[in-house]
Order: sequence, then C-alpha cells, then structure tokens
Amino acid sequence: MSFPTVRLSRLRASGVLRSLVRETTLDVRDLVAPLFVHHGENLRREIASMPGQFQLGAEHVGEQARRLFELGVRAVLLFGIPARKDAQGSDTWDDQHGVIQQALRVLRQAVPEMLLLTDVCFCEYTDHGHCGVLVERQGQLVLDHHATCANLARQAVSHARAGADLVAPSGMIDGQVAAIRQALDAAGFSHVPIMAYSAKYASAFYGPFREAAEGAPKFGDRRSHQMDPANSAEALREVRQDLEEGADIVMVKPALAYLDVVRRVKDAFHVPLAAYNVSGEYALVKAAAARGWLDEKPLVLEILTALRRAGADLIITYHAEDLARWLGE
Ligand code: PBG
Repeated sequence: MSFPTVRLSRLRASGVLRSLVRETTLDVRDLVAPLFVHHGENLRREIASMPGQFQLGAEHVGEQARRLFELGVRAVLLFGIPARKDAQGSDTWDDQHGVIQQALRVLRQAVPEMLLLTDVCFCEYTDHGHCGVLVERQGQLVLDHHATCANLARQAVSHARAGADLVAPSGMIDGQVAAIRQALDAAGFSHVPIMAYSAKYASAFYGPFREAAEGAPKFGDRRSHQMDPANSAEALREVRQDLEEGADIVMVKPALAYLDVVRRVKDAFHVPLAAYNVSGEYALVKAAAARGWLDEKPLVLEILTALRRAGADLIITYHAEDLARWLGE
C-alpha cells in the first residue's frame, strides 16, 4: 500500500485547525451545578468524599449560587437535607419550613435570574432512607409506588409554589412523571417543566452522594426500582414511558459508565437529554488528582466532552464551578 494522500493528521497540526474541525463543544451554558442545602443558618460543611462540595445553610447557598452565576453557570439543582426526618418525608411539602422551600426563597432574592431546579425524591427526607412510602408485603417492607406518587405530586407542587423553575423526579417510581405533571397543571403550574431521571441505574457510583445528602437506605438497597446496570434496551422503554407521561427532558444517570446508553437514547428519541456526572465519578477524579496521579483539568475536560460527544445536551456536574473557571481562562 502506498502512503495515503489523505493524511488525517494535517488538520491536527495547530490549535486553530483543530478548533475549526472540532465536532463537539463544551460550554458553560450546558452545565447544571448540584447544591446540597441543609437546615441551619450558618452551616457550611465540606463533604469528605467530595472535596470542594459542601452542605450549605440557605444563606451560604445564596452566596454559592451568586458565585456560580458570575462565572456563567445559569442553573442549579437543589438537594435538601432536613433537620427532621419521618416515615413519609413530610419536610418535602412544608411550604413554610421545608429546607428546599426556604432555600428557593433565599435564592430567588440572591440570584433572581438563576434557573432553580429541584430534585424531587424522598430518600433524604425519610427516617428509613427509602425513596417513598413503605408498605409490608409478605413480611417485607417494600416501596408503595402508588402512595409515593401522591406524595411526590405534593412535593413538586410545593416546590413550584416556593419558586422552583423546573422539577426533577429522581426516585424511579412508576408513574411519577404523570402524577407530577397532573398535579402541577391542576395547581396552576402548567409552565413548569419536568426533567425525569428516566434511566437511573442502581449504581455504586452514588456512594459519596449518600454521605452528602444523608440519604443512604437504613436497610436493603434500591435495586427493586432503579435499573439493572446490565440493561440498555430497557432504558429506551423507561425513556419512552416518561415522555408519554409528559417529561420535557430525560436523563441518563450515572454518565461515564453509561455513554452507550446516552448515545442509544439520543439516537432513538430526539428530545433534550441530560447526563448526570454523579458523585462517585467526581470522587474518582478528585482522589486521583489529589495524589498527583492524574491531571485534573484535562481529565475533567475530556470526561465532560465525552458526555457531550455521546449525545448529552446538558450535563449535571459537581465540576461546574471549576469548569466554568477553566472555560473562562
Ligand atoms: C435520589 C438521588 C440520588 C442521587 C441523585 N438523586 C441518590 C440515590 O439514588 O441513591 C445521586 C447523585 C450522585 O451520586 O451524584 N434523591
């Protein structure tokens, strides 16, 4: 074979050439930054397994959101850790004292233009750490999807009333999107979109999050409702069902070990798609970088670019603040 006349390396010779033919972009406008809100005014506690991430009292959440906004991050996703947990997770629909509702009011004042997304689930709010109402079936405590849907609807409406711009149900509860859509519409919030955690896997990558959000199950696990990591055709069924129920954005989670699922969903449904670069993915990067084993900045850029290349429109990532800084340099 003769030496090729088309030499693919020609267009890699300089930075200008490379950026002219680059197929994928990574922009601060694609990012959503998760924030952990904790009851308690002055609280600011670093999460050991997620260096650089904090549990924050409402005032500090306001400051953090302001900082993100100034760097160009225009959307935050709120997770709440309430002072008191109970069997149902009633803090989630407490209009007055709910940890999320209080934070939403502070954020609305502190950063009026920030898009405020709320996680809608129960595991951080129940004393048993499960994602909804438990009932006994054949001597075992199991999730009651039907009863949980009613509570999810209540939670979502309360969030909307307190100023949430978008709600994101993450519990993988059957029928959750339909229940929330109906309730929002009936309460006058037909304009509030739903981002559904549609293909959410029962993953070991959530470990650090459970420390951050204090939402680990006290017994059992979440394999009865979150997806089996071995499946991907099933992810398409989950996505289709959520779209039929009224989801506006669908999500694949975790991200890095599920790039094939991101691509399959993007090809099968031409709808806005989010990828959640979860706590364990963040912890791996941070741990290796802290030891000097990997170079953090190019690593994060490569990982997040890969998520976009796989088909994600938006990326939920704890690297948002760092990335915004790097992209602005
Ligand atoms: C449930 C929820 C979890 C995450 C987001 N929403 C935890 C779980 O399902 O156990 C994980 C996010 C992450 O690991 O970054 N409310």
